[in-house]
Amino acid sequence: MAEINLLARYPRARRNILARKQAQEANRMLARQFGREYFDGTRDQGYGGYRYDGRWIPIARDIAAHYGLKAGDRVLDVGCAKGFLLRDLMEVVPGLEVWGLEISQYGIENCHPDARGRIVRGSAQRLPFPSASFAAVLSINVIHNLRYDACVEAVREMERVAPGRGYIQVDAYRNDDEREIFLDWVLTADTYGKPEMWRELFARAGYTGDYYWTIIEVGPE
Ligand SMILES: C[S@@+](CC[C@H](N)C(=O)[O-])C[C@H]1O[C@@H](n2cnc3c(N)ncnc32)[C@H](O)[C@@H]1O
Repeated sequence: MAEINLLARYPRARRNILARKQAQEANRMLARQFGREYFDGTRDQGYGGYRYDGRWIPIARDIAAHYGLKAGDRVLDVGCAKGFLLRDLMEVVPGLEVWGLEISQYGIENCHPDARGRIVRGSAQRLPFPSASFAAVLSINVIHNLRYDACVEAVREMERVAPGRGYIQVDAYRNDDEREIFLDWVLTADTYGKPEMWRELFARAGYTGDYYWTIIEVGPE
């Protein structure tokens, strides 16, 4: 198990917390449905418009290098949204067999055309794939949306389908200041805490893959 940031080349988003603070509860309820508002509504409801722009290409390259991915390998992205990372993984490793799992019907229906037919609808707690059937399994900013016990199940499932070959990124904070910022910004997370909490959860699930944290930064967007 290694702490490694495979999203180091993802564009840094500095969030405008004040803008989101208003009408927080109504937006949280809406966002948790993971429907149109979450992906393509306003910024206080979620992404504020999630369109393909190639930002995942460098990350796909780093993931491919880290796991030594090659043509014929199978990769699963749990909570793949509109399948942008799936699309970019296929571009950087021609012949890679990619699969996504996503709870949002809207996300699947509005996925990138290259990811069409590659995304299965379901929840991270139960991955409808055989054990040890993937060369790598990824889940980026997804499992913190589950309650603690479901989160443990989701991590256990990732370990089952790709033992020791997982990458999990989750929301976290390292101190009280970061916690306060997190609580002002967060819309959908149900399980959150410091890295120590996550490391304990990973150990409880028997997870032996890699992981890293999304720490929210404040500033003009
Ligand atoms: C913050 S987005 C991250 C999407 C993508 N991994 C990325 O990094 O751009 C969270 C995604 O997780 C999905 N999601 C939420 N709960 C889920 C669950 N229980 N099982 C699978 N996907 C889930 C949402 O629909 C959404 O697409």
